[in-house]
Amino acid sequence: MKINVNNLTYKTLSEGSIPALLELQEDAFAHAGDSTDFLRRNTPETLLPCFGGDSLVLGAYDGELLVAFGILYCAGDTKENLAHDLDEVSDVTENANVKLVIVRYEYRGNGLQKELIARLCAHAEQRGYKWLSSTVSPENPWSMNNLIANGFTEAKVLVKYGGLKRILYAKKIN
Ligand SMILES: CC(C)(COP(=O)(O)OP(=O)(O)OC[C@H]1O[C@@H](n2cnc3c(N)ncnc32)[C@H](O)[C@@H]1OP(=O)(O)O)[C@@H](O)C(=O)NCCC(=O)NCCS
Repeated sequence: MKINVNNLTYKTLSEGSIPALLELQEDAFAHAGDSTDFLRRNTPETLLPCFGGDSLVLGAYDGELLVAFGILYCAGDTKENLAHDLDEVSDVTENANVKLVIVRYEYRGNGLQKELIARLCAHAEQRGYKWLSSTVSPENPWSMNNLIANGFTEAKVLVKYGGLKRILYAKKIN
């Protein structure tokens, strides 16, 4: 469904939005057919650390309806920080992860992922981060294109999350 993207509003979300994020995640799985390897299923426990600090959970709303969200996760020196796999980065705390973007099925094709990634990048840049990174399934050309459109380049191919192939993308900022 083509929409006028100028009618959307963007809001910084808090922990109270977790049920709405999980609902939108289920919308993605419901439309994924047999190929479910493209996404790790988040739980309240995996989403909770993405709130607070320099992290950002950004929602795009059409009226009252959450139609897309993006998560920038500043994972500190935990194992979730994707910069552990980036050879160029000596201090992983200078990296923020573009962890997840989901667009409601009916709203796909309006460039919302590209817009959300741009907003997450701007936030990280403003907070003084030097690197951004993200992993994408090779079966997800839409996410790859939207990362590339935001200046990310492929760093390496990884096997993560119990055997899933992932392409690690990175972008130097600041
Ligand atoms: C990946 C995703 C966020 C991209 O959504 P988006 O911002 O709407 O994508 P774009 O606007 O760049 O879409 C470009 C084109 O690809 C199509 N497209 C996007 N995602 C698609 C999908 N999963 N399956 C089939 N076609 C898709 C769009 O319809 C559009 O086609 P059009 O040009 O003919 O209109 C969205 O597909 C999604 O939420 N997928 C499920 C969750 C996911 O995989 N997230 C990424 C993991 S980090």
